[in-house]
Amino acid sequence: MQRFKNKYAIITGGTNGMGFATAQQFINEGGKVVITGRSDETVSKAVEKLGENSHGIVSNAGSMHDIFKLQEQVKQYIDTIDFLFVNAGYGRFSSIEDANENHFDELFNMLVKGTFFTVQQILPIMKNGSSIVLNTSFVTEIGTANFSVYSAAKSAVKSFIKTFASELTEKGIRVNGISSGHIKTNIFNNTGLNADQIKAALEGIIPTIPFKRLGEPIEIANSVLFLASDEASYIHGTELTVDAGISVIRG
Ligand SMILES: NC(=O)c1ccc[n+]([C@@H]2O[C@H](COP(=O)([O-])OP(=O)(O)OC[C@H]3O[C@@H](n4cnc5c(N)ncnc54)[C@H](OP(=O)(O)O)[C@@H]3O)[C@@H](O)[C@H]2O)c1
Repeated sequence: MQRFKNKYAIITGGTNGMGFATAQQFINEGGKVVITGRSDETVSKAVEKLGENSHGIVSNAGSMHDIFKLQEQVKQYIDTIDFLFVNAGYGRFSSIEDANENHFDELFNMLVKGTFFTVQQILPIMKNGSSIVLNTSFVTEIGTANFSVYSAAKSAVKSFIKTFASELTEKGIRVNGISSGHIKTNIFNNTGLNADQIKAALEGIIPTIPFKRLGEPIEIANSVLFLASDEASYIHGTELTVDAGISVIRG
């Protein structure tokens, strides 16, 4: 399939995980992508793997300075884009007692301010007929101990899906969200847990997933690209849940 022939995408946080898988699949289907990540090393490695139809920009979603430069940096490569996947981010978890202001600001700056101002800055180069997907999470639907700040930040992003959709309808830009379950990525790498602790956490998590396995990044990429494609031409202001049912099935 060549659904994205002659189309351009920006994927924030495209160096790994679901962002990288989405970039790879977008290119496989004929498109070109601009990815972002926090370091020259991760961005260069990803671009090397993605090949000539990719372009990398070092840009931190938690830095307003970086976000306000992003449009100019993208325009050095392309003038207009067809798809924006606002995906950059990670989880960090804390009990209410242990959370400090830094923990709160880190997650809200990156996930909430980062998402809002990335969309604001990229909007001027989005075509009529283009679309946006915001990355939320199944954690907005359930209560999980130690997730209060991360879940609240993702809930704010979920709220943007509706408000952005309402405001961007007249520009011909569709806005939707992807709500992922537990996916096999580097999500735990920023949590401060060591390899043994990550293994133990996953051993606790997997039995709670209805399919008893983590999702693969490509399973998210396929859903994101469905929302980006013409097949989703009547889908606007909603969230597609791709979580093996964990947000609705108990037991
Ligand atoms: N994995 C899950 O179970 C899960 C579930 C629901 C939602 N999510 C969400 O999915 C998104 C992608 O995460 P992932 O699971 O694919 O994890 P991942 O494998 O760690 O990928 C995260 C990506 O985001 C980039 N990134 C992280 N912080 C950034 C920042 N401040 N500025 C710019 N880029 C940044 C990373 O690039 P660099 O390292 O190069 O900076 C990497 O490309 C996140 O928003 C996460 O909250 C994950």
